[in-house]
Amino acid sequence: MPGLAPGIFIWKMLSKTGIIPAHKKTIREEFDMARVALVTGGTRGIGAAISKALKAAGYKVAASYAGNDAAAETFKAETGIPVYKWDVSSFDACAAGVKKVEADLGPVDVLVNNAGITKDTAFHKMTLDQWNAVINTNLGSLFNMTRQVIEGMRARKFGRVINISSVNGQKGQFGQVNYSAAKAGDIGFTKSLALETAKGGITVNVICPGYINTEMVQAVPKEVLDKNILPQIPVNRLGEPEEIARSVVFLAADDAGFITGSTLTVNGGQYMV
Ligand code: CAA
Repeated sequence: MPGLAPGIFIWKMLSKTGIIPAHKKTIREEFDMARVALVTGGTRGIGAAISKALKAAGYKVAASYAGNDAAAETFKAETGIPVYKWDVSSFDACAAGVKKVEADLGPVDVLVNNAGITKDTAFHKMTLDQWNAVINTNLGSLFNMTRQVIEGMRARKFGRVINISSVNGQKGQFGQVNYSAAKAGDIGFTKSLALETAKGGITVNVICPGYINTEMVQAVPKEVLDKNILPQIPVNRLGEPEEIARSVVFLAADDAGFITGSTLTVNGGQYMV
């Protein structure tokens, strides 16, 4: 069953028949068995689509967000998914945020590191603040968030870490030295952590979306989008957030345990690696 731990499902069925004796409840059973997924930046854009798709697949989902309270409240009202506000570029804020999510929903089984920002400008004009903000939010967050959940995943011998990088972390992009550096870092983070966790039932994968129809891409000047970007996309359109979400659900599944350290490109053919 999607979103459920098969071992626990079978155990519960056998308990009901009396074939195996009643037992002390595991922490997963205490929390109702559905796996818990935490999506950073999960209330808008690609993240909102991921949160909704995971919920539809049977997960208990928590969505974090940084600042847009109005969007988060609308998202919560529409989806019933609980929302939590913290800054993923702060290690301490992530520690406190994850603690709260786990107290509410149970231990995090699936972490989707999706939160990200852009501060696009040519490098010779880029400020230290623009550099630091993008590196800390788009790359530092992977340490800040994953470090909070990895020990629990190791102890329970199950985990899915799914990082959202970008086509521009693979190929580079004019005006995105900070963003491309961070997103390329996300790929290296994924491969190294995948090696370290492979024996322990934890997979770590990275998805590289192309240009997706979100506020982030809509912020690119129209003439740049029309002249420089769209002609590079063979399918001749922007992607939709749901097209990234379906990749996340695929990688999060209990039976995706042999897929680790992989880079999944979802970019309409813009860049093939
Ligand atoms: N390729 C080549 N040359 C470019 C260029 C490009 N994409 N963009 C600008 N230039 C040129 C300009 O024509 C200009 O040339 P001249 O001096 O000869 O006239 C020169 O570079 C400087 O231009 P600007 O002064 O406009 O440069 P700027 O510092 O203001 O930066 C920009 C412009 C912000 C980079 C703008 O071009 C832009 O927004 N580009 C799009 C960047 C982009 O694709 N971002 C992706 C956002 S979505 C996302 O990140 C999600 C994801 O994962 C895909």
